[in-house]
Amino acid sequence: MARRELAQNRRLLRALLVPTMEKRTSLHGHWSSRTTFILAVTGSAVGLGNIWKFPYVAGENGGGAFVLVYLICVVVIGLPIMMSEVLLGRRGRRNPITTMKVLGEEEAGKSWWQIVGWNGIIAGFLILSFYSVIGGWSLAYIERSIMGTFVKADGAVVTETLDSLFASWPRMLFWHSLFMVMTIVVVAKGVQRGLERAVEVLMPALVVLLIVLLFVSARLDTFQAGLTFMFEPDFSKLDGDTILVAMGQAFFSLSIGMGAVMAYGAYLPEGTSIGSTSLIVVFADTMIAMLAGVVIFPIVFNFGLDPAEGPGLVFHSLPLALGQLPWSVVLSTAFFVLLTFGAWTSSIGLIEPTVAWLVERHQLSRPTAAWLVGGAIWFLGLGTVLSFNVLSDFQFFKGTIFDNLDYLASNILLPAGGLLIAIFAGWVMCRNSSAEELDLGTGLRYKVWRFLTRFIAPVGVALVLLNASGLLAAMRG
Ligand code: PFF
Repeated sequence: MARRELAQNRRLLRALLVPTMEKRTSLHGHWSSRTTFILAVTGSAVGLGNIWKFPYVAGENGGGAFVLVYLICVVVIGLPIMMSEVLLGRRGRRNPITTMKVLGEEEAGKSWWQIVGWNGIIAGFLILSFYSVIGGWSLAYIERSIMGTFVKADGAVVTETLDSLFASWPRMLFWHSLFMVMTIVVVAKGVQRGLERAVEVLMPALVVLLIVLLFVSARLDTFQAGLTFMFEPDFSKLDGDTILVAMGQAFFSLSIGMGAVMAYGAYLPEGTSIGSTSLIVVFADTMIAMLAGVVIFPIVFNFGLDPAEGPGLVFHSLPLALGQLPWSVVLSTAFFVLLTFGAWTSSIGLIEPTVAWLVERHQLSRPTAAWLVGGAIWFLGLGTVLSFNVLSDFQFFKGTIFDNLDYLASNILLPAGGLLIAIFAGWVMCRNSSAEELDLGTGLRYKVWRFLTRFIAPVGVALVLLNASGLLAAMRG
């Protein structure tokens, strides 16, 4: 009894001392500047989610109304949660599990908040297991582009290229393995050397290439039809599950809810503004997803493709357009190189929290941790590889193994993680701590963040989850 009281007092004392406590530093070094942090978080956020996943889920869910819900989720849920993650990461300065454990003890005397970190690690495992397979498709398409397969290719050639990749599990496995090794090698090298330099040149290049493609789309007769599909909401297409998928896509695309941003925040220097930094990342990520949609849907309609065809959509539509351009070998190779690069920087964000945790908690060396975690994820990736061929008829709940991995991670685990992060930053953390860390002053900007984080984000996420699970309807009787 006495011992428990003592421990409680110690926690109380610690909580009182928090604001004046000496600032922690990260074991893994710090970002060299705010720009590097922005580039790295943008590198994690911008990836297959923007260019591969956004158009295909928007297409599957009817376009406009889905896009609108997505945008609302980005602003009222995504932005405050991203800021919360960065602030928790910088305050804890550890991997997400230890950060949440330490902050939980400091702010509430409870160490179980570390489940936020565990939830994120599981989500990261599941996501990277399929992400790496799609990254592999992109690698395979670099090879196809160099070989000139898409030059003046018609629909039949492009369909055949995609179908033959899907049909051959050994080929998919090869490219998935290569992608995974690329990820492991960078993570093994560590934050400073591995991450910083890579992002700076290639991310802007991807945007430039998308803008070039925008001009191509804008000249098609179906440009207007593509825009209408994307921006004219037809609310009859919305149901509980569509809303959940739109919210899940916001979490997935912004890389939030799983501790990736928290892990990056741990390397953020003091004195960097969390608000404006997060705003820039959220804006850039959303603009790139919109750009990808505006490029792709006119092409889809122009070539008579089905916007709801699913995960193959981008690999089907873009080569058709790229193949018609002058310099098509160069342009399509460049496109898939840049897409692979975007996927690569994101996959690093997916694996970093687990690697950081193994290094800090179990004293493994970075390379050992990276190979261990990467190997396990590679193995799990076999489930996705086989979902497109041998096991394509093995369907349950939401579809193939791949569909279920994606649904569980993106639409359940990420929102659940985000919900807990918002509750922690908004309700559990004392006002002084969050105000000090965010450094927004005590005026309107801080109040808006706090309101969104305490009320809108958690209630929004909870309602969407309950609604999609049918519980809300059951509660209404
Ligand atoms: N945001 C990435 C994308 O849109 O491709 C995917 C992702 C990366 C999700 C990192 C989560 C994460 F931690």
